[in-house]
Amino acid sequence: MKKAILSIDFSFVLHDRDRFPQGMSQREFRAGLGLGNQKNRDLFLERVSGKAGFYSLPYFEKETRKIINFTRSLRRRFDTFVVLGIGGSALGTAAVMEALSDRRSKKGGRVLVMDNVDPDKFAAAISHLDFEKTVFNVISKSGMTSETLSQFFVISRLLKRKVGKGWKKQIIITTDPEGGILRDIARDGQFLSFPVPPTVGGRFSVFSPVGLLPLAFGGVDVNALLEGARFADGINLGTKGEANPVVVLAAIYSHFMEEARKNTFVLFSYSDYLGKLGEWFCQLWGESLGKERRVGGKTGRVGQTPVAVIGVTAQHSQLQLYVDGPDDKIYTFIGPGKFKNDFSIRPPFKEARVDFFHEKKMGDLFRAEMEATVCSLAAKGRPAVIIEPYERNAFSLGALMFLFECVTALTGKILRINPFDQPGVEYGKKLTKALLDDKMSRDCLDDVDEFKSIKGTCEINMEVNWKGSKG
Ligand code: PA5
Repeated sequence: MKKAILSIDFSFVLHDRDRFPQGMSQREFRAGLGLGNQKNRDLFLERVSGKAGFYSLPYFEKETRKIINFTRSLRRRFDTFVVLGIGGSALGTAAVMEALSDRRSKKGGRVLVMDNVDPDKFAAAISHLDFEKTVFNVISKSGMTSETLSQFFVISRLLKRKVGKGWKKQIIITTDPEGGILRDIARDGQFLSFPVPPTVGGRFSVFSPVGLLPLAFGGVDVNALLEGARFADGINLGTKGEANPVVVLAAIYSHFMEEARKNTFVLFSYSDYLGKLGEWFCQLWGESLGKERRVGGKTGRVGQTPVAVIGVTAQHSQLQLYVDGPDDKIYTFIGPGKFKNDFSIRPPFKEARVDFFHEKKMGDLFRAEMEATVCSLAAKGRPAVIIEPYERNAFSLGALMFLFECVTALTGKILRINPFDQPGVEYGKKLTKALLDDKMSRDCLDDVDEFKSIKGTCEINMEVNWKGSKG
């Protein structure tokens, strides 16, 4: 008997004369599948030539075993593992830790992800740490990111002060095997280190040591996570057209982006455990597909603004906009799947007006809410895809995340852009350095000078004679 791990329902995107006249026609769908198959083959060639490295990550079994054994030994000494990293170096870990927070091994340690440089929050986070029992993982693919380097330097000094001579043993560096400041520091300073394969970018790196090391420490079943990713990969490799969820989703999403001008992608997850997964997805989708492209000598722009919300909560804050506001969005629902817990909704008194709860459980209400939301959108002709992870566990999460990575890569290829670069982010990194020290990044100093000359030329001050508060 076959057991569905994930199912993808795309009934609410296809054309229907009465119900959804602006939907994707059968002809458009077939053409999209054909193009998707072709571009997926191109990606396969990039994979075998080693250019698209993320596809191979789920297969590094020996390295994974090493990581698992290593984290076992770490847990004997430390109870807390702190990730110092940002963007793709942090979001995958945060997403999996949250999604499986109630499904980790009891032996797992505490994992904290510190992915910002707000000094007040940083101070609050470190004030709760017992430095003797904490190991820090500095993660940066490029090894050059200012935020991560700054966290590393601040923590190093503190560690040195608090634990003395052995402080370096409490820092692990995960970075490119060759390039970047961090790699040089790891080598020269004799820090323990792990490599991120050179052809894997940050947002595609959750199945590399970037994610596996903290997740294994945290008690996540990383073998099952990788098995799920391999399962999704097997389906992508072994099927075509309508049988291939990667091709189907990329064909649908690229169609609505290009032909139907849906500029916003709403990921609507019906699970309180998938908030961080939404953030991870937003980076993946936004950064991979938001690009300038040159086609036929002309420069254009593509991309969708990703928005991640949690159901049912967002029904009471965003749904009004989605139903009656601009028709510029495509929706993807992640269904709740099975629950480990449930509660009968039985009022402890007689009240006929709540009879609809008769013999219903909280999980039934949750599911009905999702269906009501899809229904309300469908009634207004808004396109929606439903993805159901049947169980929230490491295997199906691995499959879902790998599926999203493959869909993102393929959508980028269909859009004729490079989904694996991020020139806009890199430029922002350069500008930060130039603003801190104008000897840095000479090639962007014109933009910095112009910015400085404009900033503050139109300003309004809200002033008050503040007497202070006594309470
Ligand atoms: O996906 C990407 O490549 C980026 O968003 C990076 O993850 C982010 O900028 C952090 O970069 P790094 O891992 O090089 O420090």
